[in-house]
Amino acid sequence: MNTHFILRGFGRYAPERVMTNADLEKIVDTSDEWITTRTGIKERHIAADDQAASDMAYEAAKVALADAGMDASELTHIVCGTFTPDAMVPSTACRIQEKFGIKGQACVDIAAACSGFVYALETARGYIALNPDSKVLVVTSEVISRRMNWEDRTTCVLFGDAAGAAIVTAGEPGEGPEIKDIRLAADGSLGDLLTVNGGGSRYAYKLGETVGEEFFVQFQGREVFKHAVRNMCGICETVLKDNGMVKADVDVLIPHQANWRIIDAVGRKLEIPAERVFSNVDRYGNTSAASVPVALSEALDTEFVKKGDTVLIPTFGGGFTWAAALIQF
Ligand code: UT7
Repeated sequence: MNTHFILRGFGRYAPERVMTNADLEKIVDTSDEWITTRTGIKERHIAADDQAASDMAYEAAKVALADAGMDASELTHIVCGTFTPDAMVPSTACRIQEKFGIKGQACVDIAAACSGFVYALETARGYIALNPDSKVLVVTSEVISRRMNWEDRTTCVLFGDAAGAAIVTAGEPGEGPEIKDIRLAADGSLGDLLTVNGGGSRYAYKLGETVGEEFFVQFQGREVFKHAVRNMCGICETVLKDNGMVKADVDVLIPHQANWRIIDAVGRKLEIPAERVFSNVDRYGNTSAASVPVALSEALDTEFVKKGDTVLIPTFGGGFTWAAALIQF
């Protein structure tokens, strides 16, 4: 029997504080004009000082559970995608479980940077394939503002904080949005092109040492850009071909929201008309693993995505990792 993987509910959360390009002009040598033309970003949300990844994940997860009409106690697994976890140990997934006041679920974090949501969805499919009674909370949450070098204009203007969530279970076709297929990929030989090294076991700090630039997100923008467009398009073509589909079968494209120029380039190469390519990067910036579920949930709320739509979701991030999900709404 074929298992059908159904998305039961979606949720998103963005912290209250909004930082505009005008605010950034006061911090670094940049301009609204540069940020807008190079990235499409106008503003981003920034977590409060006392907010960690699990706090935001909890808020998004509560919305997703309510949307699914489920209670947290029904969950069997919590899978959290993040590169800005609360801590090295315990996992952010365990912290989320603690916040819900539930016990016993399998809890695990996924480190796939901006591809975290689709990697986590595939992990959920694996759990469900092994045990069809599984009810998996897939949640991604990023407090990237903590890993921003606010003196580096080449990085600090690009990112924002947010969380997004979905519930995945087995079900019957037509019961809800169905994950038709997922492809995951990575190329570790290109890992040095996008890093947050500081605090890891290779770049550990000694007691009393202050952090250096390596504590923050560092990348070679142009290289990342090039690989992002190429690999997101490539993996989309693969997942379509493997499912006997062509580009024209895609109703809506929801790419990882890193930069409007990347989103636009992927849409053009895949020959998806601009009006069917979803973007909210102008209001969130790049929220890494959170970008896809935040975009998905907004696309549903605004009816950009409607029942019956075939939605293609390509992602790309540090690692490098990239992925594509094909969802039938
Ligand atoms: O989710 C995956 C992660 N995504 C990414 O890492 C982003 C991928 N890369 C990009 O989105 C783009 O490469 C950027 C937006 C980061 C940069 O755009 P670009 O068109 O590749 O610009 P550039 O890095 O080549 O910089 C062009 C100029 C430079 O000045 P010079 O050397 O030409 O004089 C930069 O110093 O723009 C300058 N610049 C800035 N100027 C004003 C860089 N950042 C800024 C800034 N404000 N914030």
